Amino acid sequence: MTDPWQECMDLCVEVTKRAGVVIREALQKDITIMQKSSPTDLVTETDQRVEKLIINAIKEKYPTHSFIGEESVAAGAPSLLTDNPTWIIDPIDGTTNFVHRFPFVSVSIGFTVKKEIEFGIVYSCIEDKLYTGRRGKGAFCNGVPIKVSGQEDISKSLVLTEMGCKKDPEHFNIMMANVKKILTIPVHGIRSPGSAAVNMCLVACGSADAYYHMGIHCWDMAGGAAVVTEAGGVIMDISGGPFDLMSRRLIIASSRAIAERLAKEVTEFPVGRDDAEEK
Ligand code: IPD
Ligand code: CA
Repeated sequence: MTDPWQECMDLCVEVTKRAGVVIREALQKDITIMQKSSPTDLVTETDQRVEKLIINAIKEKYPTHSFIGEESVAAGAPSLLTDNPTWIIDPIDGTTNFVHRFPFVSVSIGFTVKKEIEFGIVYSCIEDKLYTGRRGKGAFCNGVPIKVSGQEDISKSLVLTEMGCKKDPEHFNIMMANVKKILTIPVHGIRSPGSAAVNMCLVACGSADAYYHMGIHCWDMAGGAAVVTEAGGVIMDISGGPFDLMSRRLIIASSRAIAERLAKEVTEFPVGRDDAEEK
């Protein structure tokens, strides 16, 4: 049987590569930084330009499809996941890295049908690594199959997380306590590369063994979720329950044992939902 979504995936790869060229060119020029919700929530003209480029190219071919794009949502568009084929887009995942030219900057696109992720593409465009994951067909980096490390022993693991979505003392203390608990298991180390989508791909290709995060968004997770799942990774909610793309939280790991252990260690704090009326 032919794959009904292969054409969409082919277009996605092509558009993502084009977006990567625009981002790499922008890194050679002056970058004007604007603030969104707070002094550390940054956006640039390139984030907005790349999102328009991606959405326009896809809309031209698939006018009935739906879109959830980070910058469109920031400009007031809804972020509701429906059964309609939906493109979930982060034009630059790692905007802070982009403005500092810290080399983990990605374009992340996930494609859902009936709320299930069919494929995901993450293009780490400074490294020139294109990660792809198609449901049931495996995960690849630049066309070469990838898989998770398979590590089961958390004390031999390298764990990724990002800090700073909430900076009030109460949440900050929980975040730091979580880091302390994990470091003192002990694990080999904790790293924060600064692009959620790249973090997921680092687990997918076995360079790290787990990643947990509260406070990210569906556009940070959708592309990487397809890649890591197809690479044999485990994805779950921070509570240990089933993963929910709109929940703003996740654990991914090279094995169920590590994912479940992290779920046990991590104390939750409320982060809201991407599809909530009030964010
Ligand atoms: C951010 C990055 C970062 C994570 C933030 C995200 P953005 O995405 O993925 O690693 O810590 O929570 O919002 O804003 O660069 O697209
Ligand atoms: Ca972004």
